Amino acid sequence: MASKKRQYLINVDSDSVSQRFTDCLVIGAGIAGLRAAIEAAKHQKVLLVCKEGLEDSNTWEAQGGIASVLGKADSFESHISDTLKTGNGLCDEKIVELVVRNGPELVRQLLEWGVEFDKEKGRIATTLEGGHSHSRVAHAHGDETGRMIAQGLIRRVKSISNIKIMENFYTVDLLTDADGKCVGLIGKNGNSSQIIWAANTILATGGAGSLYRETTNPAVATADGLAMTWRAGAVLRDLEFMQFHPTTLYIAGASRALVTETLRGEGAILVDGRGYRFMPDYDEAGELAPRDVVSRAILAHMLKTEATHVYLDVRHFDKKHFAERFPLINELCESFDIDISKDLIPVRPSAHYMVGGVKTDELGRTSIPHLYACGEVASTGLHGANRLGSNSLLEGLVFGTIAAQDICERKDAKPRQTSIKYEIPVSDRTRLDTADVYNSLRALMWRNVGITRTERQLSEAQEIIRFWQRYVMDKTFDAPAGWQCQNMLTTSLLMTQTAQKRKESRGVHFRRDFPETDDKNFKKHIEISSSI
Ligand code: FUM
Repeated sequence: MASKKRQYLINVDSDSVSQRFTDCLVIGAGIAGLRAAIEAAKHQKVLLVCKEGLEDSNTWEAQGGIASVLGKADSFESHISDTLKTGNGLCDEKIVELVVRNGPELVRQLLEWGVEFDKEKGRIATTLEGGHSHSRVAHAHGDETGRMIAQGLIRRVKSISNIKIMENFYTVDLLTDADGKCVGLIGKNGNSSQIIWAANTILATGGAGSLYRETTNPAVATADGLAMTWRAGAVLRDLEFMQFHPTTLYIAGASRALVTETLRGEGAILVDGRGYRFMPDYDEAGELAPRDVVSRAILAHMLKTEATHVYLDVRHFDKKHFAERFPLINELCESFDIDISKDLIPVRPSAHYMVGGVKTDELGRTSIPHLYACGEVASTGLHGANRLGSNSLLEGLVFGTIAAQDICERKDAKPRQTSIKYEIPVSDRTRLDTADVYNSLRALMWRNVGITRTERQLSEAQEIIRFWQRYVMDKTFDAPAGWQCQNMLTTSLLMTQTAQKRKESRGVHFRRDFPETDDKNFKKHIEISSSI
């Protein structure tokens, strides 16, 4: 299973690199990283690094909202049960309960911190999404929820003197000492290398959507966190579970953009090029079936009708209400001359959310001492084999808080400096054009490791990825594009290998050659680690 292990992507000589020290190091600036930094700063000095700007995260792009039990008609039991049902037998019930029960207080705290959630009769307004049996998705400024939450947290982070921020800091690798404990990171700040020694490190680097040609994710989602924890020897799990979002704007040549599921929650229907509403043919829940079901139905219908996309029909919405409730989508449609009162919105599925990740326990601890993970990069056990829509912002909020609280309670708050020397032999093998590999890899992942997979597709994908790896993984690079390409190749291979191992269909993982769920053999996680 393991590809040949190289612990670091660059040469490391801890004596000759500029150094910084911190109690708590947070890598990533989505909801989980920001919330963790705020919590840890109550007792510790925090350094938060992110590879581009603070606003470059999946959180910033989130539209639909954050799921939580906020209304009297709803209950924890119902949210727990919906999450478990969607997770198809692989959720950790204890974690589901922990996240769901901690949700309302932390969401209301965001309101106190100035996040402008939409309100109804003085209370946080909620809406419905597929798989939820109650209206429990809170939103802010309509479909600008992620942006509003991120801005609120960023404002707070910037106001806390215990938190230092380094933007445009690319983390190349996590550093571990001779006992395998995480002691910090090595990264690049512009042209200069830097080591940051930390007592504890929280990884909140987000997802892996950029491994796919079609994705809702921003370009920063290149799976760096997954690849670096793999190199560091952490246990990763369930990487075969990539969630595809059913409705991404499809305009040839334009970058893909999320068209929120809450549109369907509030009455939008899916039609084909002839105006036929096809979802009821595939599932009795119609447009509100879970995302994996809707994504596969769209794919099947596209194949059946030989079409490149289907459409969302919102012509029955009040135009003024639509513009207020969905300002981002309204602006997006207007920018392509789509008049939502007359025209259909072209959509198709695309890669959206990495359900698997770095395995953590109920405190956010990974298998590497002093390394925590939270947010999309983590596999806490909340999502199982499929994530319920809008549960991810909630998970990031809850586990960012819990991980930081655990760190504050530990006695070992001193950064530990150690001597690390690591040299990579120079390779004289041919250099491939990494920009070309990047594009070809994304196309390959979309074709062969996409919404549906087969043994042949997965074997072929591995053969091709291994070929690229031979020419890319033996090199050293000095800029993010090269390291990202290496990280993407590493993670793609791991995802393809675990997808091949899971010879059944479950949640977001659908094998055309094994279309049934096989509880006898596969009601279990697939864990991987370079250290075993
Ligand atoms: O459709 C959406 O707004 C996506 C929500 C989510 O992925 O949780």
